[in-house]
Amino acid sequence: MTTRILTGITTTGTPHLGNYAGAIRPAIIASRAADADSFYFLADYHALIKCDEPARIQRSRLEIAATWLALGLDVNKATFYRQSDIPEIPELCWLLTCVAGKGLLNRAHAYKASVDKNVEQGEDPDAGITMGLFSYPVLMAADILMFNAHKVPVGRDQIQHVEMARDIGQRFNHLFGQGKELFTLPEAVIEEEVATLPGLDGRKMSKSYDNTIPLFGTAKQLKEAIARIVTDSRAPGEPKDADGSHLFTLYQAFASQAQQVEFRAELEGGLAWGEAKNRLFQLLDNELGEARERYNALISKPADLEDILLAGAAKARKIATPFLGELREAVGLRSFREQVQVAGGEKKKAAKSARFVSFRDEDGSFRFRLLDAAGEQLLLSKSFADGKAAGQASKRLQSGEALDVRAEGQAFSVWLDGESVGDSPAFADAAALDIAIARLREALAPQE
Ligand code: TRP
Repeated sequence: MTTRILTGITTTGTPHLGNYAGAIRPAIIASRAADADSFYFLADYHALIKCDEPARIQRSRLEIAATWLALGLDVNKATFYRQSDIPEIPELCWLLTCVAGKGLLNRAHAYKASVDKNVEQGEDPDAGITMGLFSYPVLMAADILMFNAHKVPVGRDQIQHVEMARDIGQRFNHLFGQGKELFTLPEAVIEEEVATLPGLDGRKMSKSYDNTIPLFGTAKQLKEAIARIVTDSRAPGEPKDADGSHLFTLYQAFASQAQQVEFRAELEGGLAWGEAKNRLFQLLDNELGEARERYNALISKPADLEDILLAGAAKARKIATPFLGELREAVGLRSFREQVQVAGGEKKKAAKSARFVSFRDEDGSFRFRLLDAAGEQLLLSKSFADGKAAGQASKRLQSGEALDVRAEGQAFSVWLDGESVGDSPAFADAAALDIAIARLREALAPQE
């Protein structure tokens, strides 16, 4: 079985070396695993919550997209898209908003921190807090649940949000799933081994500390940033404490085992800090030089990037569109036409409310369910390669021709032309099975 991995990148900044080592590099490596089905996306709706500068949003989307591609994300294997190209996400967000407890969202760290800050400053508790910030975790739940992700790699600050996605998904399953797991419940994955890179000043590398090393600046910018790395004042020739130096930690994050051993020995042997910085520059320039060229080429052709992202969105929507259709069904947003067709006016009671629901399976095949008046599943069709064949089978079942129903154990199957086209779930006992078959016959009986 494949594991679906999904994560979003908020598009408010320019990727730096810390993002690369902590998130981008491990994500790209993970996406190459044979059993991985990766969904990586630009969380540009989330960016709007934090940033009201259109130019910055736009620039950041472009830079982040180019960064992931330049670093080798294979868009034929992974699904790479912009959140804002998937209209099903905000639509699902609303369905989830209608089941998410306000109390649950009141407890979100990011929102609480803003309230606490307001209170501390003697302001109104909600001063400057938008509904976007308050509902942030619901939108994130929609991102995750839309694609039934199993694993969500995130930083520690996001664990709570993934747990909220679980809560909300579970609630939705319970309310509308009729015993079926509509949503897969996701799990947060924290990469324990991945280094949190120190920045120039030794604190965690972060845009908010202004201590970052650019990922795809020019060689000159890279050199200048490295020159600003804070070291102690030991003179050339004096032994250096490798483990106590964040320059060494930075080096370690990109060096082979052998390179690390050698660099440590040199530092302990008295290598000058200036020289040490040169070594780090060489190492990073080596690691990133080719990708930098690819990055610059991509950035200079934004129309090509647009095409790549739109193709990614189309791929994602192949899943999102039919799944949202199923979810709309589940909550009661259903076509009137289907109801009229099945019911055939105000005739038989069972027929009136028995429903065929067609959907697309994860593998892209076409299936349908027959639900009885109470919404219980009577029949799940086999997978059809095309929608037409599935449609024809469900039409034949409704056509009034004699039904070929075969009981097997505690379940039954329905046959057309000597082939099974669908199965019932297993019922508790023989009596329940008989009742279910009777309900099936009633639901599909020819209408007078
Ligand atoms: N909130 C995440 C962050 O700031 C970004 C994000 C948005 C995300 N939607 C997501 C991460 C869905 C994982 C899954 O890092």
